[in-house]
This record gives sequence, structure tokens and C-alpha cells, in this order.
Amino acid sequence: MSTEALEPNRRDFLVVAGNAFVAVGAASLLWPFIQQMNPDASTMALSSVEVDLSPVKEGQAITAMWRGKPIFIRNRTKAEVEAAENVDVKTLPDDNARNENLPGDEPGTDANRTIKGHENWIVLIGICTHLGCIPKGQAMGDERGEYGGWFCPCHGSVYDTSGRIRKGPAPRNLEVPTYAFTTDTKIKIG
Ligand code: FES
Repeated sequence: MSTEALEPNRRDFLVVAGNAFVAVGAASLLWPFIQQMNPDASTMALSSVEVDLSPVKEGQAITAMWRGKPIFIRNRTKAEVEAAENVDVKTLPDDNARNENLPGDEPGTDANRTIKGHENWIVLIGICTHLGCIPKGQAMGDERGEYGGWFCPCHGSVYDTSGRIRKGPAPRNLEVPTYAFTTDTKIKIG
């Protein structure tokens, strides 16, 4: 799916930095039709999106849609990973990993917010945990805040390169959705 195919009012949600493209799987293409059928909760729980990460170079980001939510995917630079790893979790406003792939109250280390062997990739639900705005930081040239992650322009929340809240009114880290690598360059969200 190229950016040209997107409706103007969805562009903010489907920003593709650089020349990257988002490839979505059949499950996500079915989503509009499933929605029209007013599915029950069990149908919604099965929905998933497959994203091809191969065009996303180091330092670039893409945004996919999953269950009507923007999913921020960033291929972090070594410096961004190091910055995320070198944080004392005890100093964070929210020290919880907020990772749907983990069982419970895991500490919010960068390792607990990424997948082992793919630590350069951060995958987040791109909805500010304050009042639900879409933070900036996906597009080239976006304000990213002083921690180099994401910045919510609504009330000034600042997230780091692991998507953890560092300043501002947002109470929780950006959530990591359920996802897994299906190959070295593809993830399945949901
Ligand atoms: S909605 Fe993001 S800071 Fe208020």
C-alpha cells in the first residue's frame, strides 16, 4: 500500500518516513468488511496486521493501522537504542513495561519493551496516554522532544526512544501491542 492510496484525513496516521512502504496482510484488508458486519468480540480479537519492515532503514519510522489504532514502528539507530537502554527505570514516571507480550508487571526496561534479537525495532500504540492525541515523531522533521522519541503537542507530553513517558501530564508509557516477528523482516501485530 503506498501513501498515494491513502485518504487525506488518514495521512496523519499512515505517515511513511523516507521512501518506506507499509505492506499489510490479508487480515487487515478484510478489516473494513468485517467492521461492516458488526463483529462480536471474538472476531475482533482475531484481527491482525502483517507489516513488512524490509524497506525501513535505520533511523526511519512507519505507521501502520491495527484495530483502528496507529501503530508506531521505528527502526532505531544505535544511539537511540543506547539512550533507551541506559535509563534507570526507577527514575521513570511509569516504571512498568506496558507490554502486551509480557505477562504482567514487568519493569519498563528497554529490553522489556522490545523483542530479543530485534532490539533496534520499537513497536508502539501511537496514542498518547494522557487524553488520546497522536504524538509527533514519526515523520521526518517532526518535533520529537528532548528525549528523541515522541512529543505530544496537545499538552506537551514527552516520550523517549522506548516510548516511555518522561515529562508532561501523560501517566503511562506508550503501550507495546501484541506482536511477533514472523521472519527477520516481517512482524504480525495482533
Ligand atoms: S493528550 Fe497528549 S499530552 Fe494530553
